[in-house]
Amino acid sequence: MFIRSIHLENFRNYGRLDLDVGPSVNIFYGNNAQGKTNLVEGIYVASSITSHRTSKDSDLIKFGENEYKVSLDLSDDDGSNVQMSSCYYTEKSSLSKYSRAGRILIRDNAPVDKVSEYIGVCNIVIFAPEDLNIVKNAPAYRRKFLNTLISKISPSYFNLLSNYSKLLAQKNALLKSIKSSQNMPEMIDQQLDFWDFSLAELSAEIILKRFKFAKLISDTASKHHGSISGGKENLSIEYSTVYGAVGALEAFLNENCKYDEFMHKGLSESDYGRIKGILSDLVLSKLKSVRSYDIDKHISSIGIHRDDIIIKLDGLAMKNFSSQGQQRTAALALKLSELEIIKMFVSSTPILILDDVFSELDKTRRMSLVSAMKNAQIFITCTDRNMIGEEIDVMEGADKAEFYCVDNGKIEKMA
Ligand SMILES: Nc1ncnc2c1ncn2[C@@H]1O[C@H](COP(=O)(O)OP(=O)(O)OP(=O)(O)O)[C@@H](O)[C@H]1O
Ligand SMILES: [Mg+2]
Repeated sequence: MFIRSIHLENFRNYGRLDLDVGPSVNIFYGNNAQGKTNLVEGIYVASSITSHRTSKDSDLIKFGENEYKVSLDLSDDDGSNVQMSSCYYTEKSSLSKYSRAGRILIRDNAPVDKVSEYIGVCNIVIFAPEDLNIVKNAPAYRRKFLNTLISKISPSYFNLLSNYSKLLAQKNALLKSIKSSQNMPEMIDQQLDFWDFSLAELSAEIILKRFKFAKLISDTASKHHGSISGGKENLSIEYSTVYGAVGALEAFLNENCKYDEFMHKGLSESDYGRIKGILSDLVLSKLKSVRSYDIDKHISSIGIHRDDIIIKLDGLAMKNFSSQGQQRTAALALKLSELEIIKMFVSSTPILILDDVFSELDKTRRMSLVSAMKNAQIFITCTDRNMIGEEIDVMEGADKAEFYCVDNGKIEKMA
């Protein structure tokens, strides 16, 4: 699948942009703060709904406006046309029916009600300076990395997550309204029993997916890391979730000799039911054990909303012990692993975006990045078109590269 044209309306510093792009390498250059990242962010948002650099949709609306729209016209691998567009509006927009912010997703001229039916249509992997956050910042960045990857491959996972978030928000609202765990009405206790049971059921399914993908990331990222760093250090990833859950899952898989089946084919329905039951019972008992504490503190102190993946270099957590250069190499290895895993599960080659990444990487890392990009449509941003020299020579499709100059929210195709 490749993008034929990009359309932005009131998105960041673009009032309106309609741009045809080439099927192989597209290079956008221009001075700082002209709209290069905004353009690739627009492409990413049109396919994935969320931005790679902010979780606030309202930040994406052009200053002074009340809605943005981002659209892509694509060609599928069989040559058919695909159109997708995402529009977000604030409560002040004329599109808002009940004075509430909202979103309209459209695919091939028909509205799409479920996000899960939109996000897997066109897979884009973005390499950006923000990738460093995955290694060095808070667990939320690593959860986002894991969630984005799994949702692209398994849209039903997105539904699990959004159901979990809705239930958790309802439970948290209830926890905030209870004054203390002493003298709590029986009815509230029963209501909490209901939320906890439902949360535990969803948690078990989410843990099973996250465990599997964390293992896949660990294997593939470690391989990429080895080839970038010359095999001097060993990168590994460990999934961290509700205490005892990983141990229980590993024990089940090992005792029943189901590890390979789980990783490669998927468990049978009955085995899946058994392990799901074990995990949901475990999560439920943990939730009950902290109930009084959670009521008194008005929080949900335990649950998969606190999950993390611990990134280790030679057994030490990178967040605490690594240098900037080691963090950059690990971030690149993680993103290359994302690309490899998507290719394992999805038939069409993902579209790639490289936002200002060449200037941050040394030659070995730049070449590792470029050599992973075969047969893909690529969007590259940089401040100087001459910055990309050797890299472009080894890139497939480089002879057909298209250049565009970005200047204050306007884009001109160059010879
Ligand atoms: N919501 C918005 N509405 C209007 N302008 C915005 C909005 N958000 C950001 N901008 C403007 O967009 C510009 C930054 O654009 P962008 O991040 O795409 O720059 P860039 O070309 O990638 O620059 P650099 O080379 O520094 O990375 C800034 O001038 C910023 O004020
Ligand atoms: Mg930029």
